[in-house]
Amino acid sequence: MKLDQTYENCRSCTACPLHKTKTNTVFGTGNENADLMFIGEAPGEKEDESGIPFVGPAGKLFDKYLEYVGIERDEVYIANILKCRPPRNRDPLPDEENACIGYLREQVRLIKPKIIVCLGRVAAKRLISPDFRITAQHGKWFDNKGFKICAVYHPSALLRDTAKKADMLTDMKNIKDVYTSLK
Ligand code: URA
Repeated sequence: MKLDQTYENCRSCTACPLHKTKTNTVFGTGNENADLMFIGEAPGEKEDESGIPFVGPAGKLFDKYLEYVGIERDEVYIANILKCRPPRNRDPLPDEENACIGYLREQVRLIKPKIIVCLGRVAAKRLISPDFRITAQHGKWFDNKGFKICAVYHPSALLRDTAKKADMLTDMKNIKDVYTSLK
């Protein structure tokens, strides 16, 4: 199956109740041949309005980190665990993640990134380990089937707690180095 077919299936998905309250499906954006893929949690208000991941306040901050370390947003692929916005941006429910995760797995299978970076705790728990501790384990690399994976703080956590920004910068520089070395 091709990515646009997966997108069409995702757009018409009714596997969990979030399809009833969404404005747009936020499938993913960027380079479909990317070596580097960032995966967040779920769309927020601006993402739901636009259909594009990470375009709200957290996304704008994330863009600054990409720019600072010299990664173009267009050269990577950005997606989320959930493709539909949870009401009032609450955390995804396990049933919602289970209903949606197949779309992300298909995206990863088709894009075949060499590196996956989880943006925040929710993606890290789902994609690295259920007992992942973001404070202790951010920036740490794990080898998965065919790709390297790590997690960084979610950009919205940096908006709430600016003391985390130094760690984010260190992690993003390291990600850039690993990404460059794999090219
Ligand atoms: N937070 C996320 O996890 N994903 C988005 O797309 C926007 C905000």
